[in-house]
Amino acid sequence: MYKLYSASVELTRKCNANCKHCIVDANSFDGEELSTERIMRLLEELNDEGCQNITFTGGEPFLREDWALFLQKAKALNMSIVIMTNGLKIDDSIIKVLKSFNVSVGFSLDGADAETHDRIRGVNGIFEHSVEVLKKLRKANVYTVVATTVMQSNFNRLDKIKDLLLKLNVESWQIQIVKPCSRLPENEVLTEEQYYKLAQKIVEYRKKYNKKMSIIEADCIGYNSALSKDLYIKNWRGCECGTNYVSIESDGTVKGCPNMSITEGNIRDIPFREIWQDHDKFSYNRKPNIDNLKGFCRECEHKYVCRGGCPVNCKTKDGGSYCLHKIETVGVS
Ligand SMILES: C[S@@+](CC[C@H](N)C(=O)[O-])C[C@H]1O[C@@H](n2cnc3c(N)ncnc32)[C@H](O)[C@@H]1O
Ligand code: SF4
Ligand code: SF4
Repeated sequence: MYKLYSASVELTRKCNANCKHCIVDANSFDGEELSTERIMRLLEELNDEGCQNITFTGGEPFLREDWALFLQKAKALNMSIVIMTNGLKIDDSIIKVLKSFNVSVGFSLDGADAETHDRIRGVNGIFEHSVEVLKKLRKANVYTVVATTVMQSNFNRLDKIKDLLLKLNVESWQIQIVKPCSRLPENEVLTEEQYYKLAQKIVEYRKKYNKKMSIIEADCIGYNSALSKDLYIKNWRGCECGTNYVSIESDGTVKGCPNMSITEGNIRDIPFREIWQDHDKFSYNRKPNIDNLKGFCRECEHKYVCRGGCPVNCKTKDGGSYCLHKIETVGVS
């Protein structure tokens, strides 16, 4: 039996922004999305498998008119709820609903000024709107984690984002590295040197500001490094996608992670349990072939636990994962 712990449910692939880095390539899909009834049933199926934490994402989840029904259902199932958003649709009435269901907001902010954030997100005025919404969320006491995706366009502007978030009294800041995808211009990918500097920055921020604003590193920044004890909130035990985490796309496709291209089946065709409990699914993590690891990972002493880090992380020239331990041991590629 595989026990599920957390799930990400993509409510729609539609979006009102046009981010240059969008890993789900929002608005590219014009097929049929899951009905209200199917998503309601899915939430029960996830709960039956043990799921305690749910993240609603997209596209932009607030573009679905029935979004509040799913929050209500997840709350009734006693799940802890996060909704990821670009903030564009959030107003006082939405904030009221979020508050009433005790939902945490994952709010994407990639710059501390209109020039950076509007350009990355492809929407004029989104920065100004985001700041106003963050103030309102704070005032209403809705727990908010700001998520910043770091790429070349904002790598040198992290201190400014940090200053802004401290000024806004944001509770939590998640810093994640941009992952390569079809939409992302190649010149936005961080170098391995920058990757290491980013990890050092996260450690510095955590030491200095964690009492005021909790600093969360994303799973794509690691692993087994001299920095690890100050970098992680929890120990890295290898990618958990498909072992206790799952993702369902807006058309019902099941995957281990929203950022991965490997698919396992579709809940339109079969019940979720049949996919999740099938031993032959999610084989990259359930039956990993360590001999297939590339680059430095092949020789690494941590490979049986780490299994090559995040599978969709940026890759080194020899095909291994960006990895702090690798950089500390043999340097950058
Ligand atoms: C796909 S979006 C969906 C929810 C919502 N539209 C938003 O932007 O927050 C979820 C998160 O993934 C991040 N993201 C998108 N493309 C990414 C990429 N190539 N690498 C890393 N994170 C990415 C976004 O910045 C956002 O924080
Ligand atoms: S707001 Fe979110 S879903 Fe929309 S384009 Fe940007 S990252 Fe993609
Ligand atoms: S070199 Fe590979 S296996 Fe070793 S710690 Fe880094 S990512 Fe993990």
